[in-house]
Amino acid sequence: MTVDLRSDTVTHPTPAMREAMHHAELGDDVFGDDPTVNALEERAAQLLGKEAAVFLASGTMGNLVAQLAHLARGQESIAGASTHVVTYEQAGHAVIVGTSVRQMRENPDGTWDLEQLREAFRDPTDVHEPITGLVILENTYAAVMARPLSVQYTRTIAAIAHERGVPLHIDGARFFNAVVALGVAPAELAAPADSVTFCLSKGLACPIGSVLVGSREYIAKARRGRKLVGGGMRQVGVLAAAGLVALSDGPNGTVKRLAEDHANARRLAEGLAEMDGIESPGGLLQPTPGRLDPSRAVTNFVIFKVRRDRAAFLDALSSRGILMVDYPHGTVRAVTHYGVTAQDIETVLSACSAALRETPASAAADPATTHQER
Ligand SMILES: Cc1ncc(COP(=O)(O)O)c(C=O)c1O
Repeated sequence: MTVDLRSDTVTHPTPAMREAMHHAELGDDVFGDDPTVNALEERAAQLLGKEAAVFLASGTMGNLVAQLAHLARGQESIAGASTHVVTYEQAGHAVIVGTSVRQMRENPDGTWDLEQLREAFRDPTDVHEPITGLVILENTYAAVMARPLSVQYTRTIAAIAHERGVPLHIDGARFFNAVVALGVAPAELAAPADSVTFCLSKGLACPIGSVLVGSREYIAKARRGRKLVGGGMRQVGVLAAAGLVALSDGPNGTVKRLAEDHANARRLAEGLAEMDGIESPGGLLQPTPGRLDPSRAVTNFVIFKVRRDRAAFLDALSSRGILMVDYPHGTVRAVTHYGVTAQDIETVLSACSAALRETPASAAADPATTHQER
């Protein structure tokens, strides 16, 4: 048996999703007549309290199209230095959108210094400067152990942006993890933002897809952007059907069950924290040195350092059927998700103890990283 904790992207669709995909009513979505895609877009817009939505192939495409629809060439956005948009999207903002990013340094809770934010907006009357056209937040925030940003904080950032006439976009790849962890309604967390992307293909367990929501006028622009980057899909209701199941209120919906993933992550962190050889991941992930602090695991990520050869530790786990990945700054990441049970977590903890016993200790945790963001 394999327990694959490399990412929540490894989830397979639920039986209800497979059934819905099999029976999905289809049309040509570029003509706008795939009823299943239309139903998914309506459901997403309604849940997040926005006028309209557009279904996209991936989170990366969602962020790219979101920027295309907000920004003109030569403009600049403001985003956290460690965000996905800045670090893991091949500078699509520069290559395709034609914009620069002013990077904010994050605090370990994922917030920014508000004075620095105010200073980060360019002076639109100075002909030398680019014009600030967008602020981007990531929620949950992967670089700070996937912590959620609160409604209040999101409102504060939106207010500062809107004072300058600048819209706010949320990269909510794991937006519903934030919603569940904070115990708020999706529309409440989305309300301060002008646009939000969320991924169906991560914790929500769909095989593919993301959704971008915003005003009707904005989403019409985003549809043009999606077509520009080759994202116009045809009988794509077969995929949207899984998303409709994920966002449904009944027992087949996969939003509420994210609480199980969060509880499993916390249990994993608690068990790891007791082991000699496991320690604080450091930096933004956990500023306090010493033992891993399980209270940092508030959604579905557990990130830690091993006082061992990291590759050998991961190999020793893998030989026991447990998969984790190396992560930046010499850390290891485990992500809980649909298909991983509380019992699996106990199996993982036993495997970690055994892997630590058989892996040679290293003087310092290995700072090198070969990870890929997933
Ligand atoms: C915060 C964040 N945004 C965007 C993405 C991109 O999603 P995708 O892999 O579907 O392109 C990811 C993927 O891991 C992510 O973690």
